[in-house]
Amino acid sequence: MNEIFDKANAVLAEIQSSAPNNAEELEQFRIKYIGSKGILKDLFGFMGKLPNEQKKEYGQLMNTLKAAAEAKLEELKITFENGKPSATEIPDLTAPGYNFPLGTRHPLSIIKNRIIEIFGHIGFTVADGPEIEDDWHNFTALNTPKDHPARDMQDTFFITPDKEWMLRTQTSSVQIRKMESEKPPMRYIFPGRVYRNETISARAHCTFHQVEGLYIDENVSFVDLKQTMLYFAQEMFGKNTDIRFRPSFFPFTEPSAEMDISCFVCGQKGCPVCKYTGWVEIGGCGMVDPAVLENCKVDTKKYSGFAFGMGIERITMLKYQINDLRLFFENDVRFLKHFN
Ligand code: DAH
Repeated sequence: MNEIFDKANAVLAEIQSSAPNNAEELEQFRIKYIGSKGILKDLFGFMGKLPNEQKKEYGQLMNTLKAAAEAKLEELKITFENGKPSATEIPDLTAPGYNFPLGTRHPLSIIKNRIIEIFGHIGFTVADGPEIEDDWHNFTALNTPKDHPARDMQDTFFITPDKEWMLRTQTSSVQIRKMESEKPPMRYIFPGRVYRNETISARAHCTFHQVEGLYIDENVSFVDLKQTMLYFAQEMFGKNTDIRFRPSFFPFTEPSAEMDISCFVCGQKGCPVCKYTGWVEIGGCGMVDPAVLENCKVDTKKYSGFAFGMGIERITMLKYQINDLRLFFENDVRFLKHFN
């Protein structure tokens, strides 16, 4: 009766090696092996002819055969059903590739980077400080003690009831931090975000950006300040740009000045950007008040210095002739993609 075993084993090998290529061939495979008139049915039929002691072994072999045929049928059925592309799924190989849109830099970042680059050429390096500041660094050390009227110029977001902690109103606070932690000479710019309790409009926002500059060394004079500002203005706004200083007041500089640049939009003929004056204001500056140097334990007999502060939004609005500050914070990509 061994030839029955041999036959069944041969069929098992056949099942295992058979490879239907498509749904049609798979159906033929099904009919051939497990259909109602299939080979497996015939082979099961031999069971009755076997002696009892071989029945168990033969039964197990037949179960293996059946399981092998069914597994192959199931597996290939799934493959052929899933793999069969419907008419709409067939990819159009001639279609152009997908386009991955690239973002653009925010205009404030472009101008901030340009400012850093310009001052970098004349030896200024970048430093920063915390946006949550204490009274000493934001005001008192900057020669603006409590109850000084100059505090009213900057409507402050205090974050503790005793008004000891606040969101910094100016990047001038980083001047103090640097002078406290390092010895002169030093030449820094401090770009950063500042906060003031302002009603949001086309010209004001409660969050904006400044860049502060500080230069402390022996024999630094107002001449150095003027030349540094002229260099910056011409690099930023064009070689023909002129600058003008108007006397002003800041508690931390003495003397203090407001700096204007000649209007590069109209060439000083008069236009809405310069309000027909020929000049546009870009920031404040002055010689660091000796009281500030003393607060930071800088030897005022040996060292002097200048400082300046400019609004990055203001410079960006001038440079790109943007007339509404709110556009910077709305994140409308139609606006943002103008600045490549
Ligand atoms: N911190 C001033 C402000 O926010 C700007 C400023 C003016 C900074 C004059 C300076 C300076 O360093 O010398 O209004």
